[in-house]
Amino acid sequence: MDQNVTRLKALTAAQVGQYREQGFLSPVNALGAAEAGEVRRLVESVEAKHGGKWPRAQSLKSHLIYTALDRVVHHPKILDAVEDILGPDILCWSSRWFIKDRNDGGFVSWHQDVPYWGIDVGENIVTAWVAITPATRANGCMKVIPGSHRKLVAHREGVSNNLLLRGQEVAVKVDEAQAVYMELAAGQMSFHHGLMFHGSEESRDDERRIGFAIRYIPTRVKPIDGLPRDSVQLVRGVDRHQHFDHEPRPVRDLDPADVARHKLATDIYHEINRLAVAKHLEMVAGAGHAPA
Ligand code: NI
Repeated sequence: MDQNVTRLKALTAAQVGQYREQGFLSPVNALGAAEAGEVRRLVESVEAKHGGKWPRAQSLKSHLIYTALDRVVHHPKILDAVEDILGPDILCWSSRWFIKDRNDGGFVSWHQDVPYWGIDVGENIVTAWVAITPATRANGCMKVIPGSHRKLVAHREGVSNNLLLRGQEVAVKVDEAQAVYMELAAGQMSFHHGLMFHGSEESRDDERRIGFAIRYIPTRVKPIDGLPRDSVQLVRGVDRHQHFDHEPRPVRDLDPADVARHKLATDIYHEINRLAVAKHLEMVAGAGHAPA
């Protein structure tokens, strides 16, 4: 055995290599069907209390207010695979729901994630997109362009009927023929790099598409200068860098103190999202990546 090779916990060396080369990996086993079913019941019970829709104010970082989602974010199978990609010291930067029903108009235009997050785009940042129900081509699973994670490109905003916060879309031509569709069984997940071109189409199927996207970053990642101080949750290892405030884990659902902290954290998220756009434009200009 080569002693320089880090011992992998969940993935094979070939899978780690594929993620590095192509910017994505799918499918990867995560929760399993039974645990995914439990999360689905939570989602649908919350929706039932809010007129049949997951509440908008809880779209982001809901793992800070529901214990079942806290368990997903800390799930050993997910974290073992994430550790194989990011190393042992891991922060959960955010989580977000992507829920689609048949013909609800919801789609996601081709975009890169990190330019909108106010964190260093040069870093290895991974999204674990956990399928709570099956994700198929028919119900609008995520699609990616292999190898597109190598450079930051300009984005335009305001694409109509888009599930993204700012309706953003890459301002370059995308060859749809190269798209890989990441179909998942309930309880499986895909990984995609923070600069990966990705998107999804509207659902044409009765099967609900419920996805929980968890953003993991190594503790060394730096926020961009000049933005409000952001908060994260340490989910594995040690944070020797302290670039972010740390968020506590919930011990019961919707504890008032957690709800208040969650509101603050998501307000800051939106503020950073807004300010990061200008920084992003500067970075693209600085890197010489002219919009097509
Ligand atoms: Ni995205």
